[in-house]
Order: sequence, then C-alpha cells, then structure tokens
Amino acid sequence: MSGTKGTTDQRMQAIVSLCKRRGIIFQSSEIYGGLNGCWDYGPLGVELKRNVKENWWRDNVILRDDIVGVDCSILMNPRVWEASGHVSSFTDPMVDCMQCKGRFRADHIVNNQCPTCGSKDKFTEVRHFNLMFKTHVGALEDSSSIAYLRPETCQGIFANFDNVVNTSRVKVPFGIAQIGKAFRNEINPRNFTFRSREFEQMEMEFFTPPEEAPKWFEYWKKERYEWYLRYGIKRERLHLREHEKTELAHYAAGCADVEYDFPFGCSELEGIANRTDYDLKQHSAFSKKDLSYFDQPTNKRFIPYVIEPSAGADRATLAFLVDAYEEEAERTVLRFHPKIAPIKAAILPLVNKDGMPEMAEKIQSALKRHWNVFFDDKGAIGRRYRRQDEAGTPFCVTVDGESAKDNSVTVRHRDAMNQERVGIDHLVTFLTKAIQGA
Ligand code: GAP
Repeated sequence: MSGTKGTTDQRMQAIVSLCKRRGIIFQSSEIYGGLNGCWDYGPLGVELKRNVKENWWRDNVILRDDIVGVDCSILMNPRVWEASGHVSSFTDPMVDCMQCKGRFRADHIVNNQCPTCGSKDKFTEVRHFNLMFKTHVGALEDSSSIAYLRPETCQGIFANFDNVVNTSRVKVPFGIAQIGKAFRNEINPRNFTFRSREFEQMEMEFFTPPEEAPKWFEYWKKERYEWYLRYGIKRERLHLREHEKTELAHYAAGCADVEYDFPFGCSELEGIANRTDYDLKQHSAFSKKDLSYFDQPTNKRFIPYVIEPSAGADRATLAFLVDAYEEEAERTVLRFHPKIAPIKAAILPLVNKDGMPEMAEKIQSALKRHWNVFFDDKGAIGRRYRRQDEAGTPFCVTVDGESAKDNSVTVRHRDAMNQERVGIDHLVTFLTKAIQGA
C-alpha cells in the first residue's frame, strides 16, 4: 500500500463516487436507504463485470480442452452443506458491544476496544455465528423444509462430479468450472464491494490423480497469478502469498492467495487450494454414492484430489477498477485493458452538421455488431474525450470534415492521447487488432 492513510481513503472515496456518478456501481435498493453488503451494477458496471467473467470463462473453459463448465442451482439439498462441513462449522466468532450495540468479529477487535464507540471491555461473550442464509423450500416453514443459499459455488461442482464424468469425455486430470452467485451473512460487510453479503464467484475444481496434485497446485498458482497481469493489473500491486501451515484448513494440503494492494490494504482476490480428496470423500459418505474414478490407462480406481482456484468476480472487478483509476491534471482516467473496458470505442461526430452525425451513426451500426460501442454528439469534442476517459473507453473514433472526402476517421488513443487516421473500411480490423493484441 502506498501513500498516507488520508490519501488512500480519499482515493477509495474518489473511486466510489466515480462509480456512482458514472453508473458503474450503486448501493442496492438505494431509494429505500440501501441494504448493507449488497450492491447493484449500473450500465457501465455490468459491462465491466461481464468482461471480467467472460474473459475468465474463455480462458478457463473455451480455450482449454481439459476443463468443462456447469451452472448449478443456488438452492441445493441441505445434506450438501452437512457433508461440506458448512452447517457445523462455517461460523465467525462474534461479539456485541454492550454500549453501542454494534456487532463485530471477535478476531477484529484490538485492545478490547469498540471500533465504533471506543468503549473498552464492554463486549458480550464470544458467540459463533453461522454465515449461511437460511430459507424454507415449499409451503411449510419447519425444520424439514430448511434450505440454504449456497455460500460457495464449488459444492455444486462436487455434487455433479459423477454426472459430468458419465456424460462428457473428460478424463482425470480435468476441471469443472462455474461462475455464479454466492451468499454469506457477513458480520461486517465493508470496503465497498470487497466484502459483500451477495457476491459472485468464479471457481474451478481441477481433479487430479493424488500423486499429481502437488504439480497441478504449482501450475494453477502460477497460472492464476499471471491471469490478472494479462488483463493489465500492475505487477507491483499483485502478490502471491503462500499460507502458513497453521492457516490451512484441516483438509488442505496447501493454499496460496493472490492478493492485491487495495487502497484499504493488501487483501485476497483469489485462493488456490489443494483440497485433497476431502470433498469427494465427504459427499461419497453422506450421499452413499461411490464417487471414485476408474482410470482406464492404469486400470486403477481412486478418489481424485482437487486443486481449486477460487476467485471473486466482484473483488476482481474492484481490483481492475482501482488499478485502472488515475487522476491527472486535466482528467480522471480509467486505464482499463481494452478487453476489460466496458465500452470499446466511442463514435463522435466532430460537429452536428455536414453529414457527420449520419456518417458516425453508420459507423456505430457497423461496430456494434462486434463490441459495445457508444455514440456521443453532445458538447465540445474535448469534453466528450474526457467523458470517455473517465469511463475507461480505450478508443474514440471521430468523424470530421475530411471524413466524407477521404473515407477515413481519426482514432484517438485514451492512454497516450495520440491520434491517427484510419480508413473506415479498415476500422473493424484496426480495432480487433488493438483490442485483442493489447
Ligand atoms: N470454495 C472456496 C471458497 O469459497 P473463499 O476464500 O471463502 O473460498 C473464494 O472464497 C473467493 O470468493 C475469495 O477469494 C473472494 O474473492 C470471494 N469472496 C469470498 N467472500 C466474499 C465476500 N463476502 N464478498 C465478496 N467476495 C467474496
């Protein structure tokens, strides 16, 4: 983390206010005063987050022969959460301040002092608070109808292990990926979207022969760390932290976090864990279904080990936002990687006459078949460029007085602010290269 506390707080505040002003992220149900720990993505934000998820899916599923995808339900048979250990032990230690009634995680209290009102030694005994949201399925609200909103997406993958093996051509080692909502009743949601109660995960369970697990663990740590760099995150702000033995879950043989230097501190973006054969064994025992795998080449039957890279879509989106944000003398700019940018190009007629708007509309129609693009004819051209800089649009395509004569436009680059002339017939090829090759 760089800078003083004041500056980093200000930086975070500036990003939060840009998100609201530009329709990136809003407080959920804001007109009713919001709901703590829940956020809505606006028109720009939804494109940004979709790009994060779609690039993750493309790199982890579409471009690989050894990973397939699933999309499981959020509500599942509650036995899933007994098998996974969430019913008995997915808890946070919690205390209440007897003075201000605030509720806090016991392990976040420093010097026995209330972080809200400052009173000392005024806490209740530690209680264990289960983070799963409970609901009821069907008309009866009794113990037989209890269901949980999933607190992680991976259990749907484990529960479908056999289905996937039996219906697709996968052979161990292989992975199953899923992107979807997860819910945790966090005691203290905080730091904007970083710790929310409703969020999205991008998880992949990679099943390997037990003896190959250490090799694949090393592979996925490197692969996942580099994924963020590939989409423009600055290397000096991204860290791979190996867990100490004492930090490991009882079933894990290894774990590492990809961490990012947020303005509020260095925090976890993604965890990569060697979960051994724990999950499949647990689900075998609880469901009484044999979830072992028969490996034809070696003629051996075994329960595969699992390497799990587990990322948060909202945390990744926040990291891309924070990393891209820069205040310059003349402008505020989001320097998104073009593949992550919500709008790829803005099409701007220099003035609203001489056929320029019509020409710009035609270009917009052609480009929107490929990307999310934006037409803007309101205000001075300099102000329009600034608006696009603030939205993180990497290219502005300007139709000017020459365009009708030479069938070309000016393309302005967001970062260097240089401009070049490009033939309209070559625009799609030009932008494809600029976006894919960046
Ligand atoms: N299946 C393993 C698992 O769920 P986790 O470390 O609890 O592991 C994985 O969560 C990722 O999900 C985290 O690295 C983070 O990116 C995201 N995540 C977890 N809790 C979150 C929350 N309350 N708000 C936003 N993202 C969260």
